[in-house]
Amino acid sequence: MSVTEQAAARAALAELDLSYTPAVAEATRPIYERVKDVIPAMEWPFHAPLVHAINRLKREKNAVILAHNYQAPEIFHTVADIVGDSLALARRAVDTDADVIVLAGVHFMAETAKILNPAKTVLIPDGSAGCSLADSITAADVRLLRQKYPGVPIATYVNTSAEVKAESDICITSGNAVKVIESLPGDEVLCIPDEYLAKWVATQTSKKVYTWKGHCEVHERFTGAQLRDYRGRFKGDITIIAHPECPPDVLAEADFVGSTANMQDFVEGRQPKRVLLITECSMADNLQAQNPDVEFVKPCNLCPHMKKITLSNILESLVTLEPRVEVDASVSSRARLAVERMLAVK
Ligand code: 13P
Ligand code: SF4
Repeated sequence: MSVTEQAAARAALAELDLSYTPAVAEATRPIYERVKDVIPAMEWPFHAPLVHAINRLKREKNAVILAHNYQAPEIFHTVADIVGDSLALARRAVDTDADVIVLAGVHFMAETAKILNPAKTVLIPDGSAGCSLADSITAADVRLLRQKYPGVPIATYVNTSAEVKAESDICITSGNAVKVIESLPGDEVLCIPDEYLAKWVATQTSKKVYTWKGHCEVHERFTGAQLRDYRGRFKGDITIIAHPECPPDVLAEADFVGSTANMQDFVEGRQPKRVLLITECSMADNLQAQNPDVEFVKPCNLCPHMKKITLSNILESLVTLEPRVEVDASVSSRARLAVERMLAVK
C-alpha cells in the first residue's frame, strides 16, 4: 500500500463512528441472542458497534471471515461467515467467491488460504499470530529428514509454514490424519512435526510412524493426573474429550479423541450431561452457546496466538486491507500440491 493509500485508510478508520447508538443496539439484537449465554449483557455495548461496522464493511468489500473454533465467542458467533477446524477452513477457502478473505485464526491458516487462492487478498488481522508447532520445524529440517528416511512419505501437519509444506508429500490435519496416512503407499510414514499427534496416529494404524519433537504449547500443558482429578471430583459422572495434540497419558484418560470439529460433532450428536473439553478454552464457550443443555467444565488453557485476533484488529484490517499474507510463487505452487493431495483424500 502506498503512503497516500495508508493515510486514506487511517483517515477512514478515524472517521468510523463506533458508539453504541439505539440503531446499533436494534440492528445487533438478533446477533446478541446467539451469544447471550456466554457474553454478559453489560459487555455487549463494547462489542456491538465493532460487530455492526465489520458486518457492513464485509458487504462493501465482498469479504468473507473464516474463523477457527478457538476464536472468542464475540468473533466466532457474530462476524464469522465460515467457522470450523483447520480442515474445514482449508476446504471452505477453496470455494469462496469473495474477493477478500480475512482469517480469524493463526498465520499458518492464513497462508493455507493464500496458497489455495493466490489471486485473492488474504488478510490476517495480526501478522504475529503464530504457532509453536509451526515454529518447531523448518524446510531445511524436512530436507534432512528426507535424506535420513529415503522413500518414506512425508505427511505434514497443516500447522506449519508454507516452506515446510512445500518440502512435504502431503498435508494432514487432526481431522483426517489417520485417513490420509492410510492412503499413502508403503508401511512407513513420517508424520511431522507434532510428536503427540503422530503417537496417537500410530495407535490407529499398522504403519510404522516416525515423528519430530514439535508440541502445541496449549495442549502439552494438560496432564493425565489432571484428568483423573476431574473424574474423581465428579465421581466419574463426566465425559472427557481430548484433542490429539495432547500427550499420550492425557489421551489414555479420555473417552473420545478428535479434532475440534470431531469434538463438536460428538457434543452435538450425543448431548452428554457434563463435558470436559481438553483443548483451547474458547472452544467450550463456542459450543456452550449452541448446546445450552450441556454442562461444560472448563480448564482454561488459552492459545496466546489465537487470542491476538480481536474485533478491533479485524475491523482495522477490513478498512486498511492490511496486513496481507503473501507466499512466494515457487513455494506456493509446491505447498499447494501437498494441500490439494490432502483435500483429494475422501
Ligand atoms: P483443529 O481445529 O484442526 O483440530 O486444530 C487444532 C489446533 O490447534 C489448530 O491450531
Ligand atoms: Fe498452535 Fe496450539 Fe495455538 Fe493451535 S492451539 S495455534 S496448535 S499453539
